[in-house]
Amino acid sequence: MFINEELMLLVKSKYPVIYLESIDEEYATKQLEKIADGLGMLCYKWSVTEGLKRGEKESSYYQTQEPVRMLRTVLDFAKEPGVTPGLIILKDFHKYLDDVIVLRLFRDLVGAIRNTKNTVVITAAEYKLPKEIESDAAHIVTGYPSEKEIANALTDIIYEFKTSVKKVMVTLAREDTAKMARALKGLSMHQIKNVLNQCVADDNILDIKDLANIETYKKKIFDQEGLLEFCISESRDDLADFDNLKRWLADRKGSFSGDAAGTLPPPKGIMLMGVQGCGKSLAIKVVARELNLPIYRLDIGGLYSKYIGETEQNLKKVLMIVEKLCPLCLWIDEIEKGFAASGGEIDGGVSQRILGTFLTWMQERKGGCFLAATANNIRALPPEFLRKGRFDETFFVDLPDKNARESLFKIHFSKRGLETEKFDCALLADKAADFSGAEIEQAVISALYKASGEKTQVTTETIIEGLRSTKPLAALKREDVLALREWAKGRTIPA
Ligand SMILES: Nc1ncnc2c1ncn2[C@@H]1O[C@H](COP(=O)(O)OP(=O)(O)OP(=O)(O)O)[C@@H](O)[C@H]1O
Ligand SMILES: [Mg+2]
Repeated sequence: MFINEELMLLVKSKYPVIYLESIDEEYATKQLEKIADGLGMLCYKWSVTEGLKRGEKESSYYQTQEPVRMLRTVLDFAKEPGVTPGLIILKDFHKYLDDVIVLRLFRDLVGAIRNTKNTVVITAAEYKLPKEIESDAAHIVTGYPSEKEIANALTDIIYEFKTSVKKVMVTLAREDTAKMARALKGLSMHQIKNVLNQCVADDNILDIKDLANIETYKKKIFDQEGLLEFCISESRDDLADFDNLKRWLADRKGSFSGDAAGTLPPPKGIMLMGVQGCGKSLAIKVVARELNLPIYRLDIGGLYSKYIGETEQNLKKVLMIVEKLCPLCLWIDEIEKGFAASGGEIDGGVSQRILGTFLTWMQERKGGCFLAATANNIRALPPEFLRKGRFDETFFVDLPDKNARESLFKIHFSKRGLETEKFDCALLADKAADFSGAEIEQAVISALYKASGEKTQVTTETIIEGLRSTKPLAALKREDVLALREWAKGRTIPA
C-alpha cells in the first residue's frame, strides 16, 4: 500500500494521533496536505519556530510557538461544536513531550478529539513517544520516496521544465528516465528537485549525461551527513585477477534486479580479507557494479569519534537509513577496526554493545542489503562475525601472482594513457615479485613523474629501475603475510 493510502485510511478511521516517522519532512507535509484537502479537512501546521498556522495563511495564531499555548489553542477549537474538522500537523513535537504540562495538555487534547474527525499528526525523523500516548497513536514510517514515487515526480518535473519560460531541453528516452529515477533513490523529494535544477542550471538541458551530476551531488550530500559515504562503483575490467570472486559474481549477477530477482534468495554478503594494497577495496566497488547496486561505505571508526557518547544512537540511525535505502551494497572497510575482539570494559562496554547491535541487525536484516566487508587482520575480529550464514563467502586476497601482475601493469598503463604494447609486461611482472597491486600502480605513477620531470618517455627500463629501488611491504613484513596465509588456509577460499 502506498504511504498516502495508508495515511488516508488512518485519518478516515478517526485515529486521534498518527506518528509519521519520516526523514523527508517536506514531502510528508505535502502528502498530509493533499489528504486533508481530499477529505475536506482544514490543515493546521505547527513548528516551534513558526507557531500554529492554518492552511496557507501567512500569520500564525498569537504566540503559539510555545507548545503549551499551541495546545490550548488547538483544544479550544477542537471543543467547539460545528467547526470543520482539522488535520493538525505538529513538527518534531515528540521533543516537547518530556515536559509534564505539555504531556498533560496533549493527553487532554487526545481525549477531546477521540471519536471526532480531528486528527493530530506528529512528524519527526525518529520515533519517540511516552507510554501514556503510545496506545492512542498509530505509528507509520515512510522512508525516502520509492523508485515509483520518484519516477512519478520526475515526470512532473520534466513537464514543468519543458513548459517553463526557460524551455529546458529534455532528451531522455524512456529507459533513461528509469535509470535517472534509480539514481535519485536515497535523496529526499526536496533534494531531488534541487539536484535536477542544478543539472539544468548550466546548459538548460536535461539528458543522460546528468547521471554523473546526480552521483556527484549524492556523494556530497552523504559526505555532509558523515556516517554513510556514497561511493562510485568500478568496472570489473579495471580489476586484475580475483577470478574466483568474478565467477561467484557472474552466477549472481541478476539477483537484485533482472530475471533471477525473486526466484532465488539474493546473496547476503561477502568478506574479503588479506594482504594490504591488493585490491580489496577496489574489488568491493566492482562487486557493487556487477550486482547493479548503489554502494555506500559505513565508517565504523567515525561512528565512535564523530559524536562522542552517541555511538550507539549513531549506529542505530545508520542502520535505519540503510534499511530505507535498500536495495544497496553496504561496504564496511577494515571491519576489524570497528569491532575489535578486545575492547572489553575500557570504553564502558560501548564497543561490546555496538557489536551486539550490529550482529543482531545482521541476523535480522531483510534481503535488500548486500553486506561487503574487508579486513586486513581477521584474527582481531570476534569469531561471531564469521559464523556460518552471516556472510555467504569469505575470500582470501593474496599477493598477485605473475599473471595477475602482468594484468596489473596493463591496467595501470592504459588507465594513464600509456600504450601497453610498448612495454614488456611479462618481464615487468617477473621483476615485481612480492609487489602488491597498489605498489605496482605506484611504480607506474612514479615512472610517469620521473619521465615528465626529465622530459623523457616512460620505458620498461625506467620502471624496472624504480622497482629495484623500492622494497615491497610484503617483503618487509614477510612473517605477517605468511601467518595470514596460514590462517586463511581451510577457512577461506582464494579470491
Ligand atoms: N587487483 C587489482 N587490480 C587493479 N588494481 C589494483 C589491484 N590491486 C590493487 N590495485 C590498485 O591499488 C590501489 C589500492 O588498492 P586497494 O585500496 O583496493 O587495496 P586494499 O586491499 O583495499 O588495501 P588496504 O588493505 O590498504 O585497504 C587500487 O586503487 C588500485 O588502483
Ligand atoms: Mg582497502
